Amino acid sequence: MTQNFQETIQLGEHFASFMEKGDVYAFVGELASGKTTFIKGIMKGLNFDKPVTSPTFTLVNEYDAIYSIIHIDCYRENNPERWIKLGMNDYMDEKNIVIIEWADKLKSLLPVDTIHIQFRHKDITSREIFLLNNEYTCN
Ligand SMILES: Nc1ncnc2c1ncn2[C@@H]1O[C@H](COP(=O)(O)OP(=O)(O)O)[C@@H](O)[C@H]1O
Ligand SMILES: [Mg+2]
Repeated sequence: MTQNFQETIQLGEHFASFMEKGDVYAFVGELASGKTTFIKGIMKGLNFDKPVTSPTFTLVNEYDAIYSIIHIDCYRENNPERWIKLGMNDYMDEKNIVIIEWADKLKSLLPVDTIHIQFRHKDITSREIFLLNNEYTCN
């Protein structure tokens, strides 16, 4: 639980130290629940000092930090076939880290080892941010 947006930035900064190349992150949560703010924190933690914004209209932002971070937003574009055409499978590569806002709209494209993080708007300045159990079962 974070009490204000600065705490969400700090949590993101801390989280960045656990991220590894090849990871895919699915960020799930309603509008203004803090997904982009958390990513700003991650990028701060990776010492990336250029602007970080939700690619709501551009769909994909690429940040060339100590890792290559692919920041995807599928709020407006939630058609899996269209995302395949946009190169989603090429982004999910061992050399990148992929972070997808509104990833619940694209479940069919997510690898089995995707790390799911849920964001919840609690009140004006507090947000609940937690790791979800992997929804997929392995046989
Ligand atoms: N604890 C908090 N964590 C993150 N954002 C917060 C918090 N409290 C208030 N906010 C505000 O909520 C909004 C979150 O927006 P954003 O991170 O873009 O959400 P999303 O990407 O989930 O739509 C921002 O305007 C931010 O200032
Ligand atoms: Mg956002």
